[in-house]
Amino acid sequence: MTVASLPPVQGFGVDIGGSGIKGCVVDLDKGELVGDRVRIPTPQPALPDPVYGVVADIVGQFAWEGRIGVTYPGVMKHGVTFTAANMDKSWIGTDMAKGLEAVIPGTVQTLNDADAAGIAEMAYGAGQGERGLVLMLTFGTGIGSALFIDGTLVPNTEFGHIEVDSHDGEKRASASAREREDLSWSQWAKRVDRYLDTLERSLWPDLIIVGGGVSKKSEKWVPLLSTRTRVVPAELLNDAGIVGAALAAEQHIGQ
Ligand code: BGC
Repeated sequence: MTVASLPPVQGFGVDIGGSGIKGCVVDLDKGELVGDRVRIPTPQPALPDPVYGVVADIVGQFAWEGRIGVTYPGVMKHGVTFTAANMDKSWIGTDMAKGLEAVIPGTVQTLNDADAAGIAEMAYGAGQGERGLVLMLTFGTGIGSALFIDGTLVPNTEFGHIEVDSHDGEKRASASAREREDLSWSQWAKRVDRYLDTLERSLWPDLIIVGGGVSKKSEKWVPLLSTRTRVVPAELLNDAGIVGAALAAEQHIGQ
């Protein structure tokens, strides 16, 4: 007798960023996108209603009808946004889950973007099987953080905003700071080093996973870091937010 193999469990994730909104069906067995993702530029100004419209458009393009996970680049508690460091300030206090559910059939699980990326790395990428205190950092427009203790997420850490030499950490050490100020890799690595050193002294993690677009070029800057903590590049790169959001929706993780 042959045993028919079960169809893969699928989910749907949407990653909202300051410049683009991306979504796709996700194979939750493998942690991979099923086909090509859809990316639509974030409406400017990035106000709640136009953003909900784009998310609904993306979900509609896949004719997806189940639960979906949606990330937001700020603090997110029980569907409500609490901060907007790199988004329009009108987001603060918005019930994003309710707003999305009004235009999209099905239930929406919302969570912070870096928490989603971290969930994906822990399940399928550089954090697989890692115990202890694992810190995922995403270097992009800002710096996002996701903290795990023995694989369990501690949601909404905002380590991008720790004070380093009297500055907001992400203002000087994000990937956008490198581009904005035209820094060489070694100049930027010095800033990241200083940032990580400050973080390390108060948190003492066992592992730091560095993600965001710059993790594709990790060989240019990770070897220049002097942190005592082991630092490894993320493995899921651009898709981590989508994959993590889909997994969070399926497992009801996040806030
Ligand atoms: C926000 C975080 C977010 C990160 C990456 C920061 O400015 O405060 O919540 O995760 O940017 O988007």
